[in-house]
Amino acid sequence: MVNYKKYYPESRTAGNEPPSHKYVEAKLIAGIAHEIRNPITSIKAAAQLCLNKYKLDKQVRKYIKIILKNSERVNSVIKDLINLAKPPEASFKIDGLGKVITSVCDLVNARCSRQNVRLTKRVQRNLPKIFIDEKLITGAFLNLILNALDATPKCGRLTITVYYNHNAEEIITSFTDSGCGISEDNLSKIFDPFFTTKKNGIGLGLSLAQQVIELHDGKIHIESKPNYGTEVTVRLPVYKERTSEDG
Ligand SMILES: Nc1ncnc2c1ncn2[C@@H]1O[C@H](COP(=O)(O)OP(=O)(O)OP(=O)(O)O)[C@@H](O)[C@H]1O
Ligand SMILES: [Mg+2]
Repeated sequence: MVNYKKYYPESRTAGNEPPSHKYVEAKLIAGIAHEIRNPITSIKAAAQLCLNKYKLDKQVRKYIKIILKNSERVNSVIKDLINLAKPPEASFKIDGLGKVITSVCDLVNARCSRQNVRLTKRVQRNLPKIFIDEKLITGAFLNLILNALDATPKCGRLTITVYYNHNAEEIITSFTDSGCGISEDNLSKIFDPFFTTKKNGIGLGLSLAQQVIELHDGKIHIESKPNYGTEVTVRLPVYKERTSEDG
C-alpha cells in the first residue's frame, strides 16, 4: 500500500515530537493563501460590478479590466498554492502505465504538430502493473511534456520511453527533449516552488509533478546539457501482491 503517512507529517508526530518543518511550512502556506484569497475575491467582484453596472470612461474601463485580469491571475496562483500545501487526494488502482502515456500524447499531439516537434513514443509490451492514480500521473506527465515543449524549438524532438527495470522492480519512463537545456546553476533550483525562467511561468509544474510521483513511492530525476537537451526520468515501483509475511 502507498505510505500516506509520508504525506501527512501530522501522523508522524504521534507522541511528543514537534511537528516537522515541512508540516509547519505547508500549514503556513495554506493559511496565508486562504487569507489572500478572500480580499482578492472582493477586489474581483468589485471590479466586475463597476464594469457591469456603470457607464465608465474608456480609460477607466481599461484600468478596471487590468485589475480584473490580475486578480484572476492571483486567484489562480493561490489555487495552486493551496493545492501544493495539501497532499493531493489520490484514488489508486492497479493498472498499466500504457493508457496514461496514450492519453498524454493525445493531449499534446496538436501542440507538437504546431511546433513541428517530432513526438516518438516507445512503450515496452506487457509491462507489469503499478499502483496508480491515473489522473494524478497524467497531470504530472503533462507538466513534464509541456516543459519539454516550452524548451524545444520548432523542429525539435521529444521521445517518451517506457520500460521495465527488472532488477529494481520498477517502471522507468523517460522524457528526452532536444531543447535549450538547463544550466548547472538552475538545475539545483528547478524543483523549488515558484522557480521559473519563463515570462508567463508560475514555477509550480515540477514541484507538483514531484509531489505526485513521491505519492506513488516513485522518484524523479533530471539531467540536462545546455543547448543540447534534457532528460527527465521517472521511476515508479511495480505493484507487488502482499503476502502474510509482509506484515
Ligand atoms: N525540459 C526542460 N528543458 C529546459 N528547462 C526546463 C525543462 N523542464 C523544466 N525546466 C526549467 O525548470 C523551470 C521550472 O519548471 P516548472 O515546470 O516547475 O515551472 P514553469 O514551467 O516555469 O511554470 P509552470 O508553473 O507553468 O509549470 C522552468 O522554468 C525551466 O527553466
Ligand atoms: Mg512547467
